Amino acid sequence: MNSIEPVDPQADFPHDFVWGVATSAFQIEGAAAEDGKGPSIWDSFCRRPGVIVDASNGDIACDHYHRWSADLDMIADLGVNAYRFSVSWPRVRPGGSGAWNEKGLAFYERLVDGLLARGIKPFLTLNHWDLPDELQMAGGWAHRDTVHRFVEYAEGINARLGDRLVSIATHNEPWVMAVLGHESGVFAPGVQVRRLAVQASHHLLLSHGMALQALRAQGCSAQLGLVLNLSPMHPATDSADDQAKARLEDGRLVRWYMDPLFRASYPQDVLDDLGSDVPRIKPGDMQLIATPMDFLGVNYYSRSVVSAAEPWDAQARGHEVSDMGWEVYPQGLTELLVRLHQDYPVPVLYITENGGAFKDALEAGQVHDPQRVSYLRRHIAAVAQAMRQGVRMGGYMVWSLMDNFEWASGYGKRFGIVHVDYETQRRTLKDSAHWYRDFLQRQKARAGR
Ligand code: FCB
Repeated sequence: MNSIEPVDPQADFPHDFVWGVATSAFQIEGAAAEDGKGPSIWDSFCRRPGVIVDASNGDIACDHYHRWSADLDMIADLGVNAYRFSVSWPRVRPGGSGAWNEKGLAFYERLVDGLLARGIKPFLTLNHWDLPDELQMAGGWAHRDTVHRFVEYAEGINARLGDRLVSIATHNEPWVMAVLGHESGVFAPGVQVRRLAVQASHHLLLSHGMALQALRAQGCSAQLGLVLNLSPMHPATDSADDQAKARLEDGRLVRWYMDPLFRASYPQDVLDDLGSDVPRIKPGDMQLIATPMDFLGVNYYSRSVVSAAEPWDAQARGHEVSDMGWEVYPQGLTELLVRLHQDYPVPVLYITENGGAFKDALEAGQVHDPQRVSYLRRHIAAVAQAMRQGVRMGGYMVWSLMDNFEWASGYGKRFGIVHVDYETQRRTLKDSAHWYRDFLQRQKARAGR
């Protein structure tokens, strides 16, 4: 069915390639109001009736805040050499400005030191969506002051942990925070005003560039970058309407972020389409946004197919889909990476998230998840394919280490290679975790030869 399937992914990866697993704070930590943590916009959003499918929240999640040490042992046991995690901003600075919370900082210090003690590279993300609620009340990402609060937050984390980090990403998926958070409103903070979504995206990008400059001024030794969610945007048919729509959607998802980061300008076709919703930009903003990065993180799950007539339903058309309804389309990852490499002067690329939700069953202490194994194997092969075409890749991280709170989908969608029983908090390695461990062992054996 898929041309990438027969390729041996093992063949192409250099010995210093980074192999990891990824999580984010809100999705796993729990301890939502413990040890001085302030509320985030996701804590508040979850309390609105009807927005989370199973009416759940992040109060307990995977209880990682208490189980971090055993979780790090589990990560080490997988044989990965990197772990991507995020810091909860309201855990370390509860109101987003003002006093810092020593207990929160100490938690992340234990986590980072625990990773280093186990020989695992810490890849830290500063903002994986859980903005302090107090900053939202002051206007959130649509308000320019939040940019300055973010820079202070980045400096505080760097002052405390920077010397021990391999990598710092400023934001995870600004498109999601801007569009799902402020335009469709299906994610926190649940705003539905396009003008604010556009302004929020500009402030996210600006805060990224300003944070990079501030961290470099502090002498930060970690690699600095940003994580985007990107997909190839395919027209459903050859019709002029579908092609025009696909081009505009590509502008909104890909070029709206890549152009300012690498060319210091927003794409003209998207600006034209926005009309009076264009962002307010101050002199110098675009140059700050285009501050050179050390790496770019790419989160890839699926391609997008765009039809001017009706929403395109992959499953109804008989395509392979995950439990999210997202089409499984590994060749789209090769296509995307090659395109980024050709169209922009990109630094080294990392796949910072890739994985799938599938309906898993825990039976007799085992989870057989052949679809996830196949998904991961084909996408790793797609990365190898891109590298053969000249794309410079630094690493690959599976989303996710373990089942967790999948935002508006609650706990029903399981992305982990480790199963979590939410009643007992028991962790069970799925077949995909065993597969990944075996794959990494073979990888190490090859490097040792
Ligand atoms: C990405 C998010 C991540 C996770 C995956 C499935 O958009 O960054 O937190 O929810 O999707």
